[in-house]
This record gives sequence, structure tokens and C-alpha cells, in this order.
Amino acid sequence: MITTRLDTGARFLDAVGLTARRVIDDEDVEWLRVIRNTCRLGFAADNSVITARQQEAWWQKNEQRIVAYLYQDDEGFIVGYALLRMTDDGRWWSSVATLPPYIGRGYGGSMTAHIIRQSPTGVVYGQARKDNPAACRLHHIRDWLVIGEDERLMTYKTREPLS
Ligand SMILES: CC(C)(COP(=O)(O)OP(=O)(O)OC[C@H]1O[C@@H](n2cnc3c(N)ncnc32)[C@H](O)[C@@H]1OP(=O)(O)O)[C@@H](O)C(=O)NCCC(=O)NCCS
Repeated sequence: MITTRLDTGARFLDAVGLTARRVIDDEDVEWLRVIRNTCRLGFAADNSVITARQQEAWWQKNEQRIVAYLYQDDEGFIVGYALLRMTDDGRWWSSVATLPPYIGRGYGGSMTAHIIRQSPTGVVYGQARKDNPAACRLHHIRDWLVIGEDERLMTYKTREPLS
């Protein structure tokens, strides 16, 4: 069963049994930090450890340009996050992370499919390091086009319209 609602607190139930909740309060912003720090070595850009104070400042500054969700499994455990962040040029970029115990269960693909459909513009951009095959595989041909490639990075854009 697939049911998706976009309002805060909405549920997203899909084939892998995840529930999504929109990040709005401080506790969930802290969850973003914990997951981000745990998974940081896979990211394409910044791999540094973020402190609680830095996270708070980041959220206060960028809250209006972030759409973020935490995802829980059917036992209520938080398994990861997915978010969209708008850059100054108005483009929305996706970021997805699955906590290590939950990797390889299809959650990353499911969270990605969910978050790109929350885009305010209907278009999302993404990047993955070539040495991170799981991240590259998240940008599935069904939803994404390759728009750039260099020796280190792949850059993607979602297809329009998304199926
Ligand atoms: C990348 C990441 C989100 C994948 O999470 P996940 O929950 O394991 O994702 P899935 O189980 O849905 O797998 C995603 C795809 O990668 C493939 N995959 C998983 N691990 C893989 C590996 N080690 N090598 C190659 N492919 C792999 C899966 O088969 C799947 O492909 P498919 O949809 O074609 O079957 C997770 O590894 C992670 O959080 N890494 C650290 C942060 C990061 O790299 N984020 C992405 C930045 S773009």
C-alpha cells in the first residue's frame, strides 16, 4: 500500500514499511545531525563532523529552504533521513542517509523516491561520488537523468514529470 500526504506529521507507507515525518522541532533537527554525522563519509561535499551548536545555527539560517523528513520502520525505529535543500540559484538538492544497521534493505531507494516528490518546484538535483556505488544507485534511471560527470562526481536531475 502506498499512501502519501505532504502535510506535517503525514505518513508515508510503502513497500518497505517506512513512515515519514516532517522535521520541524529541535529534537528532529538533532536527529538529522546524529544521522548525518554517522553517515558523513559517504557524502559528496562536506564530510566534517557537525556540532550541536553548528546544527542549530544551520537550521535557524536555512529552515525556510529545507524540506526534511525522518523515516521510521514498522517497529518505530528511526532508520534515516532524506532532505531537500535549496541553493541560492533556486535549485533543490537531495540528500539521503540510512543508518548503518539498516543499510541494504531498500530504505535508501524508498526515501529517495519519497523526498524527490516533495519538491516545491517538481525538479530535484543530486550528486553522488563515483566511489560510492550505493549512492550512485539511488539515482535510478526511472527517476533521474545524468547531467554532469567528472573524475569524482556524478550530477543528476530528476526527469520531468516524475512517473
Ligand atoms: C547511500 C545510502 C543512502 C544507501 O542506503 P540503503 O538504505 O542501503 O539503500 P538501498 O538498500 O535502497 O540501496 C540503494 C541501491 O544501492 C544498491 N547498493 C546498496 N549497497 C551497494 C553497494 N555496496 N554497492 C553497490 N550497490 C549497492 C542497492 O542494490 C540499491 O540499488 P537498486 O535500487 O538498483 O536495487 C547509504 O549507504 C548511506 O546512507 N550512505 C552514507 C551516506 C550517503 O552516501 N548518502 C548518499 C549521498 S548521495
